[in-house]
Amino acid sequence: MNHNISEIRKDFPILNTVINNKKLVYLDNAATSQKPIQVINKLNDYYTKLNSNVHRGVHTLSGKATDEFENVRLKVAEFINVPNYKKSNPIIWTKNTTESINIISMAWGDENIKENDEIVVSAMEHHSNLIPWQKLCERKKAKLKIFPINEFQELNIKLLNEYINPNTKLVSIVHSSNSMGTINPIKTIINQAKKVNAKVLIDGAQSVPHMPVDVTDLDCDFLVFSAHKMLGPTGLGVLYVKEDVINTLEPHFFGGEMVLDVSYESATWNDIPMKFEAGTPNIADVIAFGAAIDYLNEIGMSNIRKHELELTKFALHLIEESKFLNDNTVLYGPKNVSNRSGVLTFHSGIAHPHDLGTLLDNEGIAVRTGHHCTMPLMKYLGIPASLRASLYIYNTEEEVSNFIKCFTDSLRFFENV
Ligand SMILES: Cc1ncc(COP(=O)(O)O)c(C=O)c1O
Repeated sequence: MNHNISEIRKDFPILNTVINNKKLVYLDNAATSQKPIQVINKLNDYYTKLNSNVHRGVHTLSGKATDEFENVRLKVAEFINVPNYKKSNPIIWTKNTTESINIISMAWGDENIKENDEIVVSAMEHHSNLIPWQKLCERKKAKLKIFPINEFQELNIKLLNEYINPNTKLVSIVHSSNSMGTINPIKTIINQAKKVNAKVLIDGAQSVPHMPVDVTDLDCDFLVFSAHKMLGPTGLGVLYVKEDVINTLEPHFFGGEMVLDVSYESATWNDIPMKFEAGTPNIADVIAFGAAIDYLNEIGMSNIRKHELELTKFALHLIEESKFLNDNTVLYGPKNVSNRSGVLTFHSGIAHPHDLGTLLDNEGIAVRTGHHCTMPLMKYLGIPASLRASLYIYNTEEEVSNFIKCFTDSLRFFENV
């Protein structure tokens, strides 16, 4: 399958939904993506034909479920190009990106961060890549440094050597900003971190679903992302940990599945990755996530990036033609379109984003309004909230035109009230 948009749209039943008497235009993909019928069917198939616990039973059904479940772990490792994953697979299933980061802040952070050590995050982090480090720094009396951004909401990369220095023990950075659509130069950041022996966590929640991400090439220590933002089910996250680091980690959750031997006094741990997965895992959603990975692979991640970039360029062209940007109504994010994702975020002094979002909803257009879980960034920009349209594989030029037209009309409406 190449990027044949009309064929792709047929796979997403929800796109035929009518909202306020209009066909749904779903532009809230950074919050969560829609699911193709292949994923929905896989979930249904699991519960109707395969439901049983994994890694436990000698019975056939459990064996089949275990094989499918573990096969998806291999698929995910291959998808992000984990080195030697067939020998040892460092993909850990979690609940979401947020849980993946919290686990590392405890399992790696509590063991490795000492008083006065420095942890670097950027000014554009989602709360889930900020608060776990705030709490770790509080526990350890370490310092949290906030890497600044410039007027186009890009990292001020001139300050790289100043911020990532021999005191830095960890850099935890978002690859692609959920609030502004900025794609950060993570390779440059990782290279600088390596020079000073700091570990790097990449928050891939908004990049892994939208572009090729290769951990062998990046050589990062941790990569985290969520299945629900990449056509998969909710309630499932991924934590990748580089082999030499995962071998040093101790588990933080204890119980069934993660043990090798248990006595009344003590326990020893199962092999990696199971030592980090206590209790019954999210079997159904992992298996359905496999169908999402197959779907993305069939289109190709480079094609997905190309499609979103073309739609973004088309949107930027229409925005320029519509002439609504001025000192009062602003579009955030990099000027260079190749540093942008398919996230378009606006703020207008004419009306509150919630009011503009409500008018768009009347037209069947779903966008996100609010702080997008980046309150410190909103405070830094001096705005209470913003309006975000975010694109994905099934969005069309027609939908983008419709959005820009209705957004322009909404601004005019509030200008005149
Ligand atoms: C950049 C980024 N990081 C982290 C998260 C948290 O993801 P989740 O809510 O799936 O844990 C999000 C969610 O929007 C995000 O956009």
